[in-house]
Amino acid sequence: MIRVRDLTVTFGHGAQAIHAVRGIDLDVAEGESFGIVGESGSGKSTVLRALVGLNPDWTGEIAIAGEPQHRKRPKAFYRSCQMVFQDPYGSLHPRYTVDRILSEPIEIHRLGDADRRIVDVLRDVGLGPEFRFRFPHQLSGGQRQRVAVARALVLEPKILLLDEPTSALDVSVQAEILNLLRRLRHERGLTYVLVTHNLAVVAYMCERVAVMNLGQTVEELPVADLRAGQTDHAYTRQLLSASQGYDRQAVEGYRSF
Ligand SMILES: Nc1ncnc2c1ncn2[C@@H]1O[C@H](COP(=O)(O)OP(=O)(O)O)[C@@H](O)[C@H]1O
Ligand SMILES: [Mg+2]
Repeated sequence: MIRVRDLTVTFGHGAQAIHAVRGIDLDVAEGESFGIVGESGSGKSTVLRALVGLNPDWTGEIAIAGEPQHRKRPKAFYRSCQMVFQDPYGSLHPRYTVDRILSEPIEIHRLGDADRRIVDVLRDVGLGPEFRFRFPHQLSGGQRQRVAVARALVLEPKILLLDEPTSALDVSVQAEILNLLRRLRHERGLTYVLVTHNLAVVAYMCERVAVMNLGQTVEELPVADLRAGQTDHAYTRQLLSASQGYDRQAVEGYRSF
């Protein structure tokens, strides 16, 4: 479903250039949930933004559903590939009702049947019809993220790119949204690429994971190996110990490599 070769993203030029992504390869099969983990600043969001066409300054090869992609994505591309962002408040227009947020993509893509589509997708993300004419500020953080997921799903895409979809939420709400995303994936046969700095999230949501550091893939491994701590890579081991609390010994051990 997704094939990436030597993806490179550089911001700026010359001495000021920031090499955010440095030659990454990815293969994600149809129906798979693939994770990308790494510390803040390692280039995870930049990879997703390049995949979805939000960042035109990339080189390399990107193919989505077998179609080679160029800088500018045709409108039809967004019927197969959608992104969900970390901050559901920032990503929803504050002066639009839920109804308008959901009807806009339907109109842009001339799908018709807006009423039915909106009611159905709200129900699918666990929101009743009473939410349809509310504004984002009248929703809880979890409800807002459900609306953001609904907006991504209303075009019935095959692929969801999820950028830290629960990082802005309270811990109790995180599990609700993760369970929703798991259910939707199985019901709709979706393909996920999920970016997070949280190894527990990736262990719960994904089958395979790429570990990124400084714009490169350090290692790609089955999530089962990550859970079992089976990795030969110092950086992955350090991430593992950091996720179980700050482990000074592990960090010092990593530094000595
Ligand atoms: N639009 C941009 N302009 C300049 N630098 C950017 C831009 N977006 C991201 N970066 C830089 O690229 C690097 C990777 O960022 P990002 O992909 O957001 O990392 P992550 O999502 O893993 O935290 C960081 O050094 C960041 O400051
Ligand atoms: Mg990010």
